[in-house]
Amino acid sequence: MLSLWILAAGCAGEEGTGEPAQRVRWYTNDQVVLGQVVFQVHCASCHGERAEATPDWRETGADGHYPPPPLNGTAHGWHHSLGVLKQTIQEGGAALGGVMPPFRGVLSDEEIVAAIAYFQSFWSDQIYAHWRQIDAN
Ligand code: HEC
Repeated sequence: MLSLWILAAGCAGEEGTGEPAQRVRWYTNDQVVLGQVVFQVHCASCHGERAEATPDWRETGADGHYPPPPLNGTAHGWHHSLGVLKQTIQEGGAALGGVMPPFRGVLSDEEIVAAIAYFQSFWSDQIYAHWRQIDAN
């Protein structure tokens, strides 16, 4: 848990703003810590322990579905606002013809938001800043 913090703080320094990323991001370190637990239990089996998922996520699998995309900032998850990310996790992929199970009723709002905080903690400041513009909330 502590190493995660240091990792996130370490990334922040690169921008040279002197402002730790934790402070400029919407989530708290507590949310990342809770999110890590939620993620390991409910998401890691598909999306990977550190949200890295499968490198070839753009290729459809044998079943004609896309594999779980990485959520660590290397895929396109950052094109969705916080609200849309939350909704995706609540509704699952079925509405989009996908295979991700819905988590409404399984996870609380707080847990879902924490899971998002966890995978966003892997995003670089650059990706985060880009996402922030889309999110604009
Ligand atoms: C059974 C495997 C599976 C589990 C468990 C799972 N996912 Fe997914 N997830 C997927 C797949 C596959 C997709 C791509 C859309 C689809 O096919 O449903 C996806 C898509 C997503 C997306 C959209 C990404 C994008 O770029 O559009 C988010 C966000 C996401 N998952 C978060 C989570 C979180 C958070 C959890 C745990 C609470 C979770 N997923 C659990 C398989 C899974």
